[in-house]
Amino acid sequence: MIGIVGGTGVYQIVEMGELKEKKVLNTPFGESPPISILKFEDQEVAFLPRHREGHDNPPHMINYQANIYALKMLGAEAIIATNAVGSLDESIKPGEFLIPDDFLDFTRKRPFTFYDDRAVHVDVTQPYCPQLAETIISAGRKVDGKLIKGGVYVCTEGPRFETPAEIRMFRQIGGTVVGMTGLPEVVLARELEMCYASICMVSNYAASVSSEKITIDEVFEILDEKKKELTKLIYNSVIN
Ligand code: HPA
Repeated sequence: MIGIVGGTGVYQIVEMGELKEKKVLNTPFGESPPISILKFEDQEVAFLPRHREGHDNPPHMINYQANIYALKMLGAEAIIATNAVGSLDESIKPGEFLIPDDFLDFTRKRPFTFYDDRAVHVDVTQPYCPQLAETIISAGRKVDGKLIKGGVYVCTEGPRFETPAEIRMFRQIGGTVVGMTGLPEVVLARELEMCYASICMVSNYAASVSSEKITIDEVFEILDEKKKELTKLIYNSVIN
């Protein structure tokens, strides 16, 4: 079983597969959103829309623990996530995809571990699964659109966008893209020993990287334009 955690604008992946059932799981951390169990050719897939269908759940209110735990309960061994991001680098343009290989965590108030009752220190020398990242990159060769290998994902608490000073700092300390949903998801998956990789979809230049103001409408517009490519990329990665 492969889990897919769909970010902003990625709900129609369900149409690519054969829908077996849709279910809500009760986890020790609360209910999951409705998860679609699909078949992509011979591969079973569990699709979980991170923001719930209709996007009514903002990044800082997502129950990341319930989401990851529910995928584990379903038997997912690997997770492909999608994350909308702003670019910190002029050469990485809106509409491009990036597969991160490291992160900087600037979240503030999210439950970030499954282990409050014992000392578990997971190794995050390679926070994203290199094998799964490679599978996605190979699949990307068959899909239109530029796909960048590697980069540092900066996660902010949101829901506001960043200030120019924050973006300057993120650039100076090595960030490549910035989003609000990548953490603690990647760490929680690692704590449950699942192989996790992310497809970041660049929807805009981060604040002050270009002179334009950022609007959520613009973010949705690019995601809408790119959702076919993204869906194909996920599908090809799953069936590889
Ligand atoms: N900042 C944070 N999160 C985002 C952005 C951004 O510029 N674009 C899409 N998600």
